[in-house]
Amino acid sequence: MSASLATVSYLGATILFILCLGGLSNQETARRGNLYGMIGMTIAVLATVFGPRVASAGLPWIIGATVVGGAIGLYLARVVKMTQMPELVAFMHSLVGLAACLVGFASYIDTSITFTGAEKAIHEIEIYVGILIGAVTFSGSVIAFGKLSGKVGGKPLLLPGRHFINLIGLLVVIYFGYAFLQAETVQAGMTPLIVMTVISLLFGIHMVMAIGGADMPVVVSMLNSYSGWAAAATGFMLSNDLLIVTGALVGSSGAILSYIMCAAMNRNFISVIAGGFGSDGGAPAAKPAGGSAEPAGEVSPILAAETAELLREAKNVVIVPGYGMAVAQAQHTVFEITSHLRAKGVNVRFAIHPVAGRMPGHMNVLLAEAKVPYDIVMEMDEINEDFPETDVAMVIGANDIVNPAAQEDPASPIAGMPVLEVWKAKTSIVMKRSMASGYAGVDNPLFYKDNNRMLFGDAKKMLDEVLVALKS
Ligand code: TAP
Repeated sequence: MSASLATVSYLGATILFILCLGGLSNQETARRGNLYGMIGMTIAVLATVFGPRVASAGLPWIIGATVVGGAIGLYLARVVKMTQMPELVAFMHSLVGLAACLVGFASYIDTSITFTGAEKAIHEIEIYVGILIGAVTFSGSVIAFGKLSGKVGGKPLLLPGRHFINLIGLLVVIYFGYAFLQAETVQAGMTPLIVMTVISLLFGIHMVMAIGGADMPVVVSMLNSYSGWAAAATGFMLSNDLLIVTGALVGSSGAILSYIMCAAMNRNFISVIAGGFGSDGGAPAAKPAGGSAEPAGEVSPILAAETAELLREAKNVVIVPGYGMAVAQAQHTVFEITSHLRAKGVNVRFAIHPVAGRMPGHMNVLLAEAKVPYDIVMEMDEINEDFPETDVAMVIGANDIVNPAAQEDPASPIAGMPVLEVWKAKTSIVMKRSMASGYAGVDNPLFYKDNNRMLFGDAKKMLDEVLVALKS
């Protein structure tokens, strides 16, 4: 492939990536957006592999690696459960970081690159910064993978003097950066490069370990952004314009997503990085965290048949899905119940909290998969004021996102986080298996409110029973 054809292909791929991101901003155009992204990526890979910068002798290696990597990717995509997607995404971010590190070391020891003067300095800065971002992304994403999959506890690790430790690390990295640029030979430059890599790896671990369960949504999007900047840095090292543009697109869209997540949690970015919000957590979190509201009385259980009766009599119903709906894979039954009630003239709508589930848009994806119409799926801000006029608020496997302690208890670890105000409905029904806490590990006073009922059991099983009762 000629250089000019490769350049035109890169331009086409860039435009497709931008169209892809534009399409993903709306549920109705998301499928088309994904298609643009896939076509763009295919063009990008073909133009790179068959472009002027790859010697034909290297092709068998590239094709072999692509087949092996593609087969692993295909296998993982087929077996991964929807609830494991956030972990998979975190794991993939770690691979981008690892690739940036490896490319950085390879470019440094590559003897065919012979820059001098300012060009040499710029190339070495690209390598140093690229490895730094790559190493932080790699180790941070591995820890995020562990936290999201419950292999690493969600409790924040708050080392004494942790900000001071980070500051020392930063100063050491700057000092060794100077030493690296002064090094006359590759051997001499290797020591500062390795020291910086080790510090960056430790910083990535420390940064994510210090973050509490409730802040994980911001961390996931932040690492998404880092992985973009790591890819852009790799693009600079390899002088590949497409990688620079693509990395910058991912980096900036991830940064915007982090901002949206921070706004959704009412947190500022710096305090997220500083860590500690949501004092306990992890997938199986069952014990209430200190400082949270203490269990405040008795809960009132309800049966599936009674739930069906309440729904049948209601005029306005709001369904609040959460992580438990994803675990139970209850979205299809939710859709059937919705269709049944709508056919009987009940106004059914969905309330989606920005951090419901375990990844951005988690609930929207599940509801779209079950073919729930988009126009009854509302964002938190669109529907929160309607709860006082709601007859039944049905909470399906959600917990933290409907926790009134965020508003009522300034000592709560999630104080200040905006939540869906389901307790303002005439009756709220919470569907979950036990009294266990949610991801942030905080007890939920909603369960003890007078107008709240608890429908205990697996969400899918309970909803199936509700549907049978509704139809009978
Ligand atoms: P959670 O607060 O985690 O609560 C989910 C609830 O679902 C649990 O209390 C659990 O209670 C219940 N559950 C689990 N399996 C179930 C099943 N099979 N049937 C019925 N119920 C089941 O979820 P949420 O309300 O969606 O809030 C999301 C939380 O995750 C927030 O703290 C958020 O910060 C965090 N987070 C979000 C993201 C993103 S980007 N969305 C990323 C990382 C972390 P039982 O065990 O008693 O059933």
